[in-house]
Amino acid sequence: MSKRAHWGSRFAFLLAAAGSAVGLGNIWKFPYITGVNGGGAFVLIYLLCVALVGVPVLVAELYIGQKSQKNAVEAFSVLDPPRSPWRISGLLGVLSAFLILSFYSVIGGWVIDFLFQSLMGKISSLPEEALKGLLGGLFSAPLWQILWHTVFMGLTVGIVFMGVNEGLERWSKILMPSLFVLLFILLVYCWKLEGFPKAVDFLFSTRADKLTFSGILEAMGHAFFTLSLGMGAMITYGSYLGQRENLVRISFLLALLDTLVALVAGLVIFSITFTFNMEPAAGPGLIFSTLPVLFSKMSAGGVLAVAFFLLVLFAALTSSVSILEVCVAYWSETHGLNRKKATILTAGAIYLLGFLTVFSTNRLSNFKILGLTFFDLFDKLTSSYLLPIGGFITILFMGWKLGHQSVKDLFPSSSLMQKATLFLFRFITPAVMVILIYHFAT
Ligand code: PHE
Repeated sequence: MSKRAHWGSRFAFLLAAAGSAVGLGNIWKFPYITGVNGGGAFVLIYLLCVALVGVPVLVAELYIGQKSQKNAVEAFSVLDPPRSPWRISGLLGVLSAFLILSFYSVIGGWVIDFLFQSLMGKISSLPEEALKGLLGGLFSAPLWQILWHTVFMGLTVGIVFMGVNEGLERWSKILMPSLFVLLFILLVYCWKLEGFPKAVDFLFSTRADKLTFSGILEAMGHAFFTLSLGMGAMITYGSYLGQRENLVRISFLLALLDTLVALVAGLVIFSITFTFNMEPAAGPGLIFSTLPVLFSKMSAGGVLAVAFFLLVLFAALTSSVSILEVCVAYWSETHGLNRKKATILTAGAIYLLGFLTVFSTNRLSNFKILGLTFFDLFDKLTSSYLLPIGGFITILFMGWKLGHQSVKDLFPSSSLMQKATLFLFRFITPAVMVILIYHFAT
């Protein structure tokens, strides 16, 4: 008997993995970076990356985790003993987790603020102009941001303490599907808005000229971010899987669900944007300036606003927990810290780092490194560089180091599938990444 924790059931694992994937990346980040990068062409590259890079890396990460039963760093050492050079991927992952959670928690805090504003009845009573400016008000109030950032981090730590597979499971079962239903209701409502056809056109017709090199990196990086890849989160979750599972099927399912949520969120946001003459390239504030306007026009909009921000908050928490878990599993297993201590120490450090993101929207908004505020820097560094690098190393490890054994485990009874998948791991996925980067860099 191993002492390591395991998921209570297959369903529990699925919920947790879906919870990790679906989060602010789908609802906040996808619409905003799509807007900034001009729509269709960006979405196309993103979808291509999800299919040809995301799904294979997802399979690889889950496999590496399950096979090794270890954290994101040690997994590589166990499968390639004694101290595999490949573990650099895991170490980069721990660094990424650190940086990502520091701003993720601040954005989670913004969601809490909007939940609070909805509960106070502001969303249904303020005039349109005031609603558009709500986020600006929050930006100039660092203390409020810090308060909500504290609450978000506290909730994340609380859930990790309760045990990922106990507390979370019960709630996820109800709240995750509720989020999907609510998004769908919003979509049906937006269908009738005059901006809807424009939103469809914006998301799905390609104007490749708009896409820049950094746009490509962002699209590829987002495929990693949104599926929780490239930093060992799925290795860590896979390592709590005891029995054999059909990892390929699970990965397709997760990618499909995740993409669907992002596209629906995008359709909703851009319908509002085009109906009410707002700016699609508004940046990180996009969902916070558009959605309240929609809620204020809907009957029962006040209630829907509360429900919506509550569900987004929950989706964000099921993701933040998985980010923190990467660090906690590493510090506790590899460095022998007890789990509680590891959680408090890492979360504390990440919490403090988060202040830099808070101040990026006010006091330090003019302080730039390489032309970026701290927030933009952390976001770019992780999504556009660290995650793709981590994912690239992982897929090479899977294809070239684990090689035949891995595809035999994945497809025990079909040698054709084994060969095709090995070809995918070894050549197609790495090539897609290299070609995209090369093509747009020159
Ligand atoms: N996938 C999560 C989201 O879309 C974010 C995340 C990134 C979670 C990396 C874990 C690891 O919100």
